Amino acid sequence: MSRNILVTGGAGFIGSCFVVQQVEAGNNVLVLDKLTYAGHLVNLEPCLHSSKFSFAHGDIGDAELVARCLKEFRPDAIVNFAAESHVDRSIHSAEDFVRTNVLGTEQLLRTTKDWWQELEPEAKKKFRFLHISTDEVYGSLDKNSAPFTENSPYAPNSPYSASKASSDFFVRSYFKTYGLPTLISNCSNNYGPRQYPEKLIPLMVLNAVSNKPLPIYGTGLNIRDWIYVEDHCEALDLILSKGRIGESYNIGGECEKSNLEIVHSICEILDEVMPKSDGTSYSRQIKFVADRPGHDFRYAIDSTRVKKELGWTPRHCFPEALRKTVLWYLDNSEWTKQVMDEDYRKWLHQQYQGLDAAKSL
Ligand code: NAD
Ligand code: TYD
Repeated sequence: MSRNILVTGGAGFIGSCFVVQQVEAGNNVLVLDKLTYAGHLVNLEPCLHSSKFSFAHGDIGDAELVARCLKEFRPDAIVNFAAESHVDRSIHSAEDFVRTNVLGTEQLLRTTKDWWQELEPEAKKKFRFLHISTDEVYGSLDKNSAPFTENSPYAPNSPYSASKASSDFFVRSYFKTYGLPTLISNCSNNYGPRQYPEKLIPLMVLNAVSNKPLPIYGTGLNIRDWIYVEDHCEALDLILSKGRIGESYNIGGECEKSNLEIVHSICEILDEVMPKSDGTSYSRQIKFVADRPGHDFRYAIDSTRVKKELGWTPRHCFPEALRKTVLWYLDNSEWTKQVMDEDYRKWLHQQYQGLDAAKSL
């Protein structure tokens, strides 16, 4: 039976992938998105004209708008992707992170709870609120520590992860206090098409082919656990249908790589598919730059719960999916042009000051 799903932040990287999968599966989806610098309707192109898709432009913190969406769309589920999502931006200023991730999420929960409490018993029982979170709430691991489980203590180190941890706690409190049927997912680093080019993988691909430096923070030995975005969204679908309310689920790619390994892999793919005219490798554009303040050393996820309880398994293997991702950015320069506007250029200038000078490396 088809479901009505309200997806907040559905015009961003992961949300748009989830929306496309859900529309293809025959569900009705209403996207509520503020269309910040990271949200673009072009990300939803595959389903923009589907009768199963609708869009509301606005903020999760706008109680009146959210209440109207709930009343008219009558969702069986809300999936909350809406967030400020970039650690480096949160280091420059945490203001928007507090506004959306903390206050916005709490307002969304409050508006949802008020609406949900008035539903008929059956609809009330069936309803789910799935909050999309991150492994970064658990803090940093050293090289030999066991991966994060759902029982790992929260120890956020960046303003971004502090704001996500706070939103997770509000979600938990709405389950405990009001019985709102919530679920939380904590996922590791995603990669794939349509990721805003401020994040490591798209930034490196686009800088490489523009003959710009590839800025690696610190030593480049920091480790992330990489997951292909479609695998993440498939896990979310299972959590929504079969997850135990009040629980959280860790999702990871079982693919730990250092940043330096990632960037070298991207350069190898580019050397093969788009060799430089002077015969040198793109890896010569690598430039070590000042480390990120409070830079978490390692994230790694233990996905046993989502695998054993819900039968999830990631379908993509890293080398192939990374190649597919790199090729997507090469083949979609129109997308890149649309999302890399004046604001983006300002961001690059602010974050990577001085690197322009090294442009001709
Ligand atoms: P993104 O930055 O690409 O997209 C965020 C979306 O939220 C954008 O469409 C933006 O317009 C929208 N948005 C922002 N503030 C809003 C507001 N106040 N009201 C309505 N919409 C708003 O982010 P992403 O990478 O797709 O991440 C989605 C979610 O997944 C986030 O909650 C993030 O914390 C989480 N997450 C991301 C990763 C990752 O690797 N990218 C990993 C784990 C968890
Ligand atoms: P990022 O994609 O910002 O994700 P997160 O901080 O959420 O893990 O960064 C991934 C890793 O890459 C992180 O260790 C920081 C590093 N990094 C660089 O070395 N250079 C860069 O220009 C960027 C954006 C990230």
